[in-house]
Amino acid sequence: MERTTPEVILTDFEKDIVEGLTDFPKHLSSKYFYDAIGDALFQDIMEMPSYYLTRAEHDILKAHKKEIVALFKNTGPFDLVELGAGDGKKTKVLLRELSDQWCDFTYVPIDISENSLKKLTRSLHHEMPNVAVDGFQGTYFNALKDLHQRDQKRKVILFLGSNIGNLAHEKAIAFLKGIRELMLPKDILLIGFDQKKNPQVILDAYNDQEGITAAFNKNILRRINRETDGDFDIHQFLHWEVYDPENGTAKSYLVSKIAQHVHLKKLRLEIYFKPWETIHTEVSQKYDDDMVNWLGKEAGLRIKTSFQNANGAFKSYVFSL
Ligand SMILES: C[S@@+](CC[C@H](N)C(=O)[O-])C[C@H]1O[C@@H](n2cnc3c(N)ncnc32)[C@H](O)[C@@H]1O
Repeated sequence: MERTTPEVILTDFEKDIVEGLTDFPKHLSSKYFYDAIGDALFQDIMEMPSYYLTRAEHDILKAHKKEIVALFKNTGPFDLVELGAGDGKKTKVLLRELSDQWCDFTYVPIDISENSLKKLTRSLHHEMPNVAVDGFQGTYFNALKDLHQRDQKRKVILFLGSNIGNLAHEKAIAFLKGIRELMLPKDILLIGFDQKKNPQVILDAYNDQEGITAAFNKNILRRINRETDGDFDIHQFLHWEVYDPENGTAKSYLVSKIAQHVHLKKLRLEIYFKPWETIHTEVSQKYDDDMVNWLGKEAGLRIKTSFQNANGAFKSYVFSL
């Protein structure tokens, strides 16, 4: 049985909780993983030996920084806009190179997490005082639109960490089309795509023995408890990861171990879970060249070039109009 009385004004997070937990099957968006605790847990994930994505992409940016910066520089001043910047650790490789080459640019990190954005801005002022930083807190698309309205400066857009893989194909195409509509002829878009590989390597990246990914996934329930006066018993949920090598889709779930009622007092919502009922929390799509070509084509974007790490686990593609 599910009950809600919609007499209060709900935030986007609250609306999505109501919609996702009263739907069948239940779901929550991975963008809500990132509160201060989620940000810290994601830092731990990036340090895990099994989470190869960050190191692979870092290696690409380090090995190809001169070629990449040459593409960015093109003609005159530009905004370097990063969608979902996080801690910006990998981006700093490029920022340092741009700064060393005296490029005229402003770094515009965009992130839904205010905590991440503040930390990143502070660390940049400290480590690279010459780099102009103009961060924006919000969701990718709202921020991009706002930026487009603000000025007509050339844009170099970064979307790293295979964050695009958090969008199922249809949403990824709609998202890329939305970006394309805001791009001008000289703008470019650099996107990191995690590649299809041995399925065990992928499963291990999202299912570590230490339980860090499990804590990251379950943190969304803690956040719901905190922000909606809820009573999720975290211990009664399992983190579960599946990977389908046929379509390259990894999915994270929270699985209810028992029959249980959960109450979110602030939302006046009572949610019932059957034993072993799931909440789908994340998609982490894996790609190959054909898939990326198809996405680009569907979105009306052209692949200019691409770079890959030594074992081909990860690739960075540069798109233009
Ligand atoms: C997986 S982390 C990757 C961080 C960084 N790009 C990297 O490659 O290490 C995802 C980041 O994107 C942010 N994020 C997730 N969904 C978002 C959304 N819809 N709009 C804006 N930021 C988002 C998160 O707060 C987090 O910092």
